[in-house]
Amino acid sequence: MQVFLTLLISIFITLIYANTAESGVNPDDVKITFGKQEDILIRGGVVVNADMQFKSDVLIKNGKIAQVGLNILSPGARILNATGMYVMPGGIDPHVHFELPFMGTVSKDDFLSGTQAAVAGGTTFVMDFAIPLGREISPLEAFEQYKKLGEAKSVCDFGLHVAITKLNQDGDREKIVRDMAEVVKRGVNSFKFFMAYKGTLQIEDHDLIRAFALARELGAISMVHAENGDLVQEGQRKLLRQGIHGPEGHSFSRPPEVEAEAVHRASVIANQVGAPLYVVHVMSQAAMEEIARAKAKGYRIVGEAIAAGLTLNETAVFDRDWNRAARYVMSPPIRSIDDQHALVNGLKTRTLDLVGTDHCTFDTEQKRLGVDDFTKIPNGVNGIEERMTALFDRLVHTGKLTPSDYVRVTSTEAAQIFNIYPQKGVIAVGSDADVILLDPSKKKVVYHTEHHINIDYNVYDHWSFWGSVETTISNGRIVWNNGTLYTEQGTGRFVPTPAFGKMFHGLESETFHSSDYFAGHSNGKKKGVNRNGSY
Ligand code: URP
Ligand code: ZN
Ligand code: ZN
Repeated sequence: MQVFLTLLISIFITLIYANTAESGVNPDDVKITFGKQEDILIRGGVVVNADMQFKSDVLIKNGKIAQVGLNILSPGARILNATGMYVMPGGIDPHVHFELPFMGTVSKDDFLSGTQAAVAGGTTFVMDFAIPLGREISPLEAFEQYKKLGEAKSVCDFGLHVAITKLNQDGDREKIVRDMAEVVKRGVNSFKFFMAYKGTLQIEDHDLIRAFALARELGAISMVHAENGDLVQEGQRKLLRQGIHGPEGHSFSRPPEVEAEAVHRASVIANQVGAPLYVVHVMSQAAMEEIARAKAKGYRIVGEAIAAGLTLNETAVFDRDWNRAARYVMSPPIRSIDDQHALVNGLKTRTLDLVGTDHCTFDTEQKRLGVDDFTKIPNGVNGIEERMTALFDRLVHTGKLTPSDYVRVTSTEAAQIFNIYPQKGVIAVGSDADVILLDPSKKKVVYHTEHHINIDYNVYDHWSFWGSVETTISNGRIVWNNGTLYTEQGTGRFVPTPAFGKMFHGLESETFHSSDYFAGHSNGKKKGVNRNGSY
């Protein structure tokens, strides 16, 4: 009887399963619903999370992951066949600049073209920087402006960092302090400080000390663009005096030591005031070694690599064709092949923690603003559309990282650092349905004529990478499938990043118990920064 019953049940299940497969919607037949939220059943793939990989189906309902397991049944759901593919959390790019007013122009990709390119490349969450630059607006106003732009145009979710370029606004020293507290309340948990770009973005050390302390109090991460801006300025003047005007002058004026010195200084300052520190776009071995040293001393510090640093090298900046060379001008500069290898190994050994792009694009005409003077070439390279495939090729295909490590550095780590995990960064029940299907056995070839960014070239033109993102799902919408975009402007949401994330865990206790902390001295009295960031 029991055997008969079991047989009956299994026949029943098989029938339902077969029926579902038939009634499941073939993506190629009904293109009209692409881009809309729908029930999606991803069948037969290998789910890869940062901690493990396993064969599993994934069911998506109402923009969330509803089920993860084998042989999931869901009549009526659109079926995606993921056989032979990795099913991974969508990429998180913690470092992009859309429509940034910068160096006398505005970066070319906006939240629409930028996020379209993002999803075409398998990234489903981007973090931009609200920078009060080129106009006398406050950090709070900058935040509101960027949020509005993002909400109006984005096709995937986004978050914001806010840049602090000074502490004194119009003689009011408390205005910025109040703004910092307010933007944290509105969903920002990271402040960016530029130690370079003297005269525009660069913040002075005395402000940096107080701002780090304030950020720590607010539970916000301090992020730094680490280059010694004063030394850069000296170097630029010297080179121009010597008659060096071309793009190569950009690299000569910003050597690795100038980057490493700033990383060291920032890490010491941050540690002195007990502030967790995030170093953006680490480009040189020398800078990375400063991070390794700081980590070894127990500092709370993370290092971000970028796709350009892991794939390109400085020879491009020495191209005899000015237009071509200028495409690679960014800060800190793209370094030597040895630096590139060191950075890749830094990710492998976890000296570096995650990878962004610093996607900041200027077309040829904009780059030519610096045709007679390298200091005027707008700084920035593309990468948002290529990051996921380029990293799969360089990190996983080469055997340096496991697929799980790849997920960690392209998605999970960022979600954890910016405190939106497990909403993002993992394939798990209840998480946002931001998912990619990546075919490890297929190559992606980049052509500037086919990319989705808004410039007339691509630093990866004609490069091919193992690991092609075949499908991207953003909040339960198929937004990229088989080489076609199905996006709708304004569907991306601003996702607040709550204060006191992972980099703050245990900070109070550590401060209390530390014998060498600048103010604590473990004498039973907890000391730290007070409300206005003095200490
Ligand atoms: O060259 C770069 N990195 N441009 C974007 C602005 C910045 O410094 O991050
Ligand atoms: Zn920067
Ligand atoms: Zn940047």
